[in-house]
Amino acid sequence: MNYASAASLHAAVPAEVNVEGAAVTLYAAAEPAALDVLVPAEREVAQRLGGGARAEFLRGRAVLKACLGALGLSTDTSMLNMPHRNLSLTHAAGVAVAAFTAANNVIGVGVDYEPHGPVAGRLARFFLTDRELTSHIDEQQHGDQLLRLWTVKEALFKATPENEKFTVRDYECHDVWNWQGGASLLPRPNVLLRYVTMAVMGGYLSVAVAVASPHKPS
Ligand SMILES: CC(C)(COP(=O)(O)OP(=O)(O)OC[C@H]1O[C@@H](n2cnc3c(N)ncnc32)[C@H](O)[C@@H]1OP(=O)(O)O)[C@@H](O)C(=O)NCCC(=O)NCCS
Repeated sequence: MNYASAASLHAAVPAEVNVEGAAVTLYAAAEPAALDVLVPAEREVAQRLGGGARAEFLRGRAVLKACLGALGLSTDTSMLNMPHRNLSLTHAAGVAVAAFTAANNVIGVGVDYEPHGPVAGRLARFFLTDRELTSHIDEQQHGDQLLRLWTVKEALFKATPENEKFTVRDYECHDVWNWQGGASLLPRPNVLLRYVTMAVMGGYLSVAVAVASPHKPS
């Protein structure tokens, strides 16, 4: 199988990123996995999906299998549940990226990629907190920053264990202008989050980790 086949993809997505002390390995692929490398449960999902969604799913399988294979683990992804402590996946605009970390104190990893596209200012209130909204972000000047922040929020969400209880608006970046830094999960102050954003492939790729708090929750 041809993982991360395009040379431009290799050049664009770094093989590893340091998320404020946690090493995260990235795998990117433009080419969908072939149906014949899938286990039956994966093939069933692929066959249920229509054209575009199927190709996205198969690109996701390609990077997850590349990642798991490189680690010497089973490449059957049908048993994986997201969110996952060590692994995360994003696929958009014909590209899939998997993120893996084995960093000791990490309790979750998240990755999100969005290609360039306008984010309407009126949508900001759905994913930015009141404090973030007062950081002088406005659509005309900062439409692009909103897309970047959207990928940050999605990566933070994906990095959070048991995230079904939360929405992207529960996360607050300590400094919305920073391309890397800390963030809080407002309803769970004991969860520490870190993120890094890169401008790649004409869009933004954010990688986040949730870190075990050194203190017991009060
Ligand atoms: C689940 C979610 C994170 C997926 O993100 P997305 O940008 O739509 O899609 P991506 O391609 O980046 O990621 C898809 C992958 O995320 C993974 N994923 C799915 N649910 C997940 C979860 N709860 N946590 C972590 N990862 C998850 C899956 O591996 C999925 O790929 P697959 O279905 O092929 O296996 C997103 O749809 C979501 O629910 N975000 C929170 C929404 C929210 O807070 N809304 C409220 C106000 S706007």
